[in-house]
Amino acid sequence: MTLVLDFETRAPYLSGFHNGARPVSVGLEQPADSFARERLLDEAFGAARFDKTVERLRAGRKPARGLSLAAKRADSLVGTLRLWHIMAGGVPALLLGPLVVAKACRSQGIGRALMEEALGRAESIGHAAILLVGDAAYYEPFGFSRRHTLGLSLPGPVDERRFLGLELKEGALNTASGLVTASGAREYLAPQSAIAVRRAA
Ligand SMILES: CC(C)(COP(=O)(O)OP(=O)(O)OC[C@H]1O[C@@H](n2cnc3c(N)ncnc32)[C@H](O)[C@@H]1OP(=O)(O)O)[C@@H](O)C(=O)NCCC(=O)NCCS
Repeated sequence: MTLVLDFETRAPYLSGFHNGARPVSVGLEQPADSFARERLLDEAFGAARFDKTVERLRAGRKPARGLSLAAKRADSLVGTLRLWHIMAGGVPALLLGPLVVAKACRSQGIGRALMEEALGRAESIGHAAILLVGDAAYYEPFGFSRRHTLGLSLPGPVDERRFLGLELKEGALNTASGLVTASGAREYLAPQSAIAVRRAA
């Protein structure tokens, strides 16, 4: 399903029902979005994004099916959000992020639209819990809380106040204890890329 935002009211509309002057659609990311997505991530985080602890849970893995979202104005990518499969101390869960909206398009409700679409899709697919590392002030209004991650640790350094969880099914994280590990399907490395990686090593 595609969501369209009316920028006059910030109200979400289903595709085809918007009446805004500058609508933004939220839907599944397409392969052709990948270059623009990399640019958005570079603009937001720079090369440091590859050093983040959560990147260890994403590198070399495919994102969760149906949970790579793109926000577009006309044909331009203005926002991105992906979720990833993880094991949260023995409990299957999702890792949310990165969430980025183009600088020129912030504070227009696009981040919220991406979040709401992602949480709704994750719940409807049957996922039970989501973890993330991010600003509590932004994510708490969506229901994320530090209390769900108190028994969990990440595979690297992190500001623990930013390590948050959300239960889509009540009690899903009650028994979550220990290390968070990657559990997504491994990404296929094209033969040329594999050669490049071996040469660089
Ligand atoms: C965080 C981000 C995705 C929000 O996107 P957005 O489209 O601007 O979000 P929304 O329009 O739904 O909400 C904007 C509101 O969230 C607030 N907000 C943005 N970042 C915030 C943060 N880190 N902490 C608390 N509030 C934040 C804004 O102040 C804004 O408030 P306003 O509406 O009163 O002006 C965007 O600012 C961004 O891409 N930031 C850089 C990358 C990043 O930090 N990603 C999140 C990782 S923690």
